Amino acid sequence: MTRPLVVPTRAALAETLAGRPAGRRAVVMTMGALHEGHLELVRAARAQADEVVVTIFVNPLQFGPGEDLDAYPRRLEVDVDILTGEGVDVVFAPSVEDMYPGGEPLVRVASGRLGTLLEGRTRPGHFDGVLTVVLRLLNLVRPDVAVFGEKDAQQLLLVRRMVADLAVPVVVHGVPIVRDTDGLALSSRNAYLSADERRRALVLPGALRAGTDAAAQGGTPDDVRAAALGKFAGSPDVVLDYVALVDPSTVEDVPVTYAGPALLLVAAWSGSTRLIDNTAVELSPRGTVPAQRPPGPGGSQ
Ligand code: PAF
Repeated sequence: MTRPLVVPTRAALAETLAGRPAGRRAVVMTMGALHEGHLELVRAARAQADEVVVTIFVNPLQFGPGEDLDAYPRRLEVDVDILTGEGVDVVFAPSVEDMYPGGEPLVRVASGRLGTLLEGRTRPGHFDGVLTVVLRLLNLVRPDVAVFGEKDAQQLLLVRRMVADLAVPVVVHGVPIVRDTDGLALSSRNAYLSADERRRALVLPGALRAGTDAAAQGGTPDDVRAAALGKFAGSPDVVLDYVALVDPSTVEDVPVTYAGPALLLVAAWSGSTRLIDNTAVELSPRGTVPAQRPPGPGGSQ
């Protein structure tokens, strides 16, 4: 099985990429602690390109004070083992000093209003840090396609907006959430959960399911939000940050009269671990029931 070539510096990356045959290149950006969800991103990248680069970099710019930057799992050798046989050509795993040789960048990408909602409200500055590293990695790897997971829905939307608004020459490809058999969305942070916390965390996909069920029965946006929130009321050990039902292109709350595609998102702490999850919902015009039920969490995603 072919083990990817690991390059630890920007200089080595440039040299490696220059020496490779011309072809369509895809990038999958990660912070490591890889799991099956990342492998789905890699497979989607492989399907669209001749060459796949995976980046592994725990980006300090996107962590706020008191967040898990120091504790974030770093296990490069295990990650490279996981990528072996998956058709990854290059793993770019730089140090912080190599990525930001002048220290923290003075100039950053501003995520604008979109970056202040939902995740950005709880994690101020997070998306500026994400977009800054994403743009930097795009400039270093120069891919044709960049693959991101739909689990980080707001991140994916912001990357799409950055690419469109700043005319970055790359195609952004989103990949559906991968879930465990019990419905919990795969996340590197699941590794922090004790068995009890993990069991309690199932309230997140449960709330999404309750929301999609309410929508499938012709519920209004308020019904959908109430159904999702109701699940947390019965689960006092999980501390809710937000349940939101938003327009997928703006992440602004949908109004009470809204009908059409929406995104239902949840964020909550199980123990000290903050988890996020989301699902698409289709809101029917008042008084009608959608003909077909959209796939929900724990379903076939
Ligand atoms: O989604 C992530 O793992 C990170 O936010 C990303 C895109 C790798 C940027 O650090």
